[in-house]
Amino acid sequence: MRSAIARGAPRKGVLRALAATVALASAALFIVPSAVSAAPVRRVDNPYAGATVYVNPDWAARARSEPGGSRIANQPTGVWMDRIAAIAGTSGARGLAAHLDEAVRQDSANGSQALVFQLVIYNLPGRDCAALASNGELGPTELDRYKTQYIDAIAAILARPAYANLRIVTVIEIDSLPNLVTNVAPRPTATPQCDTMKANGNYVNGVGYALNKLGDVASVHNYIDAGHHGWIGWDDNFGATVQIMCQAATAQGATPSDVTGFIANTANYSALREQFFTANTVISGRPLREVSGGWVDWNRYVDELTFAQDFRSRADSQCFDANIGMLIDTSRNGWGGSARPTSASTSTDPITFMNQSRIDRRIHLGNWCNQSGAGLGERPRANPAAGIDAYVWMKPPGESDGSSTAIPNNEGKGFDRMCDPTYTGNPRNNNNMSGALPNSPLSGHWFSAQFQELMRNAFPRL
Ligand code: BGC
Repeated sequence: MRSAIARGAPRKGVLRALAATVALASAALFIVPSAVSAAPVRRVDNPYAGATVYVNPDWAARARSEPGGSRIANQPTGVWMDRIAAIAGTSGARGLAAHLDEAVRQDSANGSQALVFQLVIYNLPGRDCAALASNGELGPTELDRYKTQYIDAIAAILARPAYANLRIVTVIEIDSLPNLVTNVAPRPTATPQCDTMKANGNYVNGVGYALNKLGDVASVHNYIDAGHHGWIGWDDNFGATVQIMCQAATAQGATPSDVTGFIANTANYSALREQFFTANTVISGRPLREVSGGWVDWNRYVDELTFAQDFRSRADSQCFDANIGMLIDTSRNGWGGSARPTSASTSTDPITFMNQSRIDRRIHLGNWCNQSGAGLGERPRANPAAGIDAYVWMKPPGESDGSSTAIPNNEGKGFDRMCDPTYTGNPRNNNNMSGALPNSPLSGHWFSAQFQELMRNAFPRL
């Protein structure tokens, strides 16, 4: 873990001067291609500012092989290290060093701009404790294997001098800490595996270890996964989630300054902006949030932008630095297409008003697998709104969230009925239909029909 982290604006001038000196020194020692970003990266306030972002050639090739896919094949998407074998590479995917070599090539081709490399860290012991589709390879007690064979191995590669000019963005362990808040006893949504992972501390310790070790690499910018508004937006969940983030950011040698920020909506479908109402919109004398059993149902938020901005402020007021920033995954939250409302409903019944006016067309906010009707969201870009470092496509569009039937595999993927369109639900989606597309492959595998629908329903349109 590094002690002094320079992310504050006032120090940037000093840093740049320092970086220039380092660049000169290294230029004397090594042959440095003139076009790559000028100097080894020290952590910056917003890594996306003034940078281009790595395009994964393997995802791009799959996108390009689809009719119409070339319209988005050049968009940057996240590179997921979803098991130990992914570090060296598997038959379907190149390994981490091969990606970073390609990132260096893209950096040298983008003029003097820096290049961001987006890496998803996703392999905790007892992973995905409230679902089965991405259960993972490590059992609940295998924290040591996580540390030595996964995090240490990744950190060693990221620290290679050849990659020192890249701005590495790491997304830390999707869904893990929020699960310890909402899916544990005595809540009706509890699962035995989430109770186990809370009791044994291995999510908190795993995240702490990852923040600390990866944070030791000067070019790494850690963003912790913070769920999404349709999960953490209720008062009972929001503050407790920030608290557990603080706990993880002080576990295993980590400090809050190892954290550049948080990411909302990773691989989820929550709308960026509900255009036609807020939680406080009053219909027939009642604020929408106070209508029990309605779409909002006491949530403070109806969309990701307001949730992410408030999450940032709350985290800052607790243990995190004032200059933390947020990412929002907009890969699949566009909700364009014919079902998208074009104006607010005129209904005076609040429940009907919400259902007719909402951009998010899911059956229930708790649905998360291969959602029918979804579209690509905002294209990735830096500094889109106050407090938001970037809109990103961390989940590569076209990669499945889980299989709609059981498929034997050696990737640690189970079968979750939330991916089965005939499933009638559980307490976590209030016993609604799953809303999943049929005939889906294992999580992470290419799902052409979904890719085509995401393009058709893109908003903004392609
Ligand atoms: C899967 C991973 C995959 C990732 C990105 C996750 O749900 O478990 O295997 O790499 O999605 O598509």
